[in-house]
Amino acid sequence: MAEGWPYWSILVVDDEPGMRNFLVKTLGPRCQTVHEAGSAEDGAALLRDHHVDLIILDIALPGMNGLAWLKDLREHGYTGQVILITAFADLDTAIEALRAGASDFILKPFRVPQILNAVRRCYESARLARENFVLRHTLARSQFADNGLVGRSAQIAELSASVRRVAPVNSTVLLQGESGTGKELVARALHALSPRAQGPFVPVNCASVSPEQMESELFGHAKGAFAGATRARDGLFYYAQGGTLFLDEVAELPLALQATLLRALEDLQIRPVGSQQLVPVNVRIIAATNRDLQQEVAEGRFRKDLYYRLQVVELTLPPLREHKEDIPDLVQHFTSQLAPVLGALPLQLTAAEMDYLTQYDWPGNVRELRNLIERSLILGTLNVSALYAMDKKRRAASAQPTDLHTLEKQHILAVLDSVQGDKTQAAQLLGISRRTLERRCAEWALP
Ligand SMILES: Nc1ncnc2c1ncn2[C@@H]1O[C@H](COP(=O)(O)OP(=O)(O)OP(=O)(O)O)[C@@H](O)[C@H]1O
Ligand SMILES: [Mg+2]
Repeated sequence: MAEGWPYWSILVVDDEPGMRNFLVKTLGPRCQTVHEAGSAEDGAALLRDHHVDLIILDIALPGMNGLAWLKDLREHGYTGQVILITAFADLDTAIEALRAGASDFILKPFRVPQILNAVRRCYESARLARENFVLRHTLARSQFADNGLVGRSAQIAELSASVRRVAPVNSTVLLQGESGTGKELVARALHALSPRAQGPFVPVNCASVSPEQMESELFGHAKGAFAGATRARDGLFYYAQGGTLFLDEVAELPLALQATLLRALEDLQIRPVGSQQLVPVNVRIIAATNRDLQQEVAEGRFRKDLYYRLQVVELTLPPLREHKEDIPDLVQHFTSQLAPVLGALPLQLTAAEMDYLTQYDWPGNVRELRNLIERSLILGTLNVSALYAMDKKRRAASAQPTDLHTLEKQHILAVLDSVQGDKTQAAQLLGISRRTLERRCAEWALP
């Protein structure tokens, strides 16, 4: 066998038995299998049970024509190669074919070298696409070593294990957790570690647009669907084809739209606003909320059936105050991540400073910690007073004495001590103004 593609399966779709025989005879010995079908409908039936790497497809067919089937295949997410063959071609058809996702286009009659050349080109581009996929997949994996989740606490370890387990399956995932706990980070990791990694990750914030716009945002709309719809527009579902749609703040979705979304998820197809046509979708859904969705259901603000559809797998992200032992690792992580970007020197935290961080309650969770590190890197010192101010404000409501208060006092005293009472220098080290420092000292009746 001179040249071949021993692992390839090819499907020949042509209504002329003569053409099918020719192709089977030419390609059969060079690849693993050559299937044949006399119509697009038979071809589609065959694809349901067989993996096919390349379809050689006649355009003029009884029933659905080859071009229409090709468009349909691409919409359904078929990523294999397709060579269109036809006896009646013009430039327009050729252009349309390539736009519809044909890899190649050949005119009948053709000879053996012509078809072999075309198959060779297809094989080459499939090989490149596969290499590309593998490469991106490995990159994504190394980038998300340990899912991108930093922390060695039992809570984070358990979360990481769940992410690894759940990522490769196609099921819907519901992420619950307070603001700033890493829901989007986990959603991206789930995508990056899934077989859809090479496809798009499309985040949509369900609270960001008006309820009226939301439907068209998600499902697209037909031309003239409503005032102002001067042309048809694809929705985010469409952009997420072959990938993951991240429905952030899903609890904010209006009730009416919840029903539409549920139907789309059940039927795996969507209907653009104002359109009669159903569009098949191949999208994995990850939803997130910082509300208690079960509570929302109980109070009639969220549909129970949609809730059950979304929480096939439910992951709950712990608030930072419940895994404070991860704070040193997180500080280290954000410091080394942000210092080069900001052109700042890495922070060297004293034990007392680290104590502050573990005393604090972190209502804004990991995001708040990250922001603090960022600010501190810019200022060149841990911005304890910002933390203190936040904590004071928060606790003012509950009017409780604050531990941080004492801690800050100790810290300021230690810093003053280290610079022999030089307030200007101490203020600089503390990242606060001299005036603020003096006010503090006065509060505590310090010299
Ligand atoms: N365990 C973690 N390890 C490393 N980075 C984390 C971790 N948790 C959160 N982060 C980081 O904290 C920041 C906030 O996380 P993210 O945006 O995912 O939160 P969220 O849960 O989506 O919040 P919100 O509900 O407010 O949208 C991001 O920069 C994220 O990368
Ligand atoms: Mg978020």
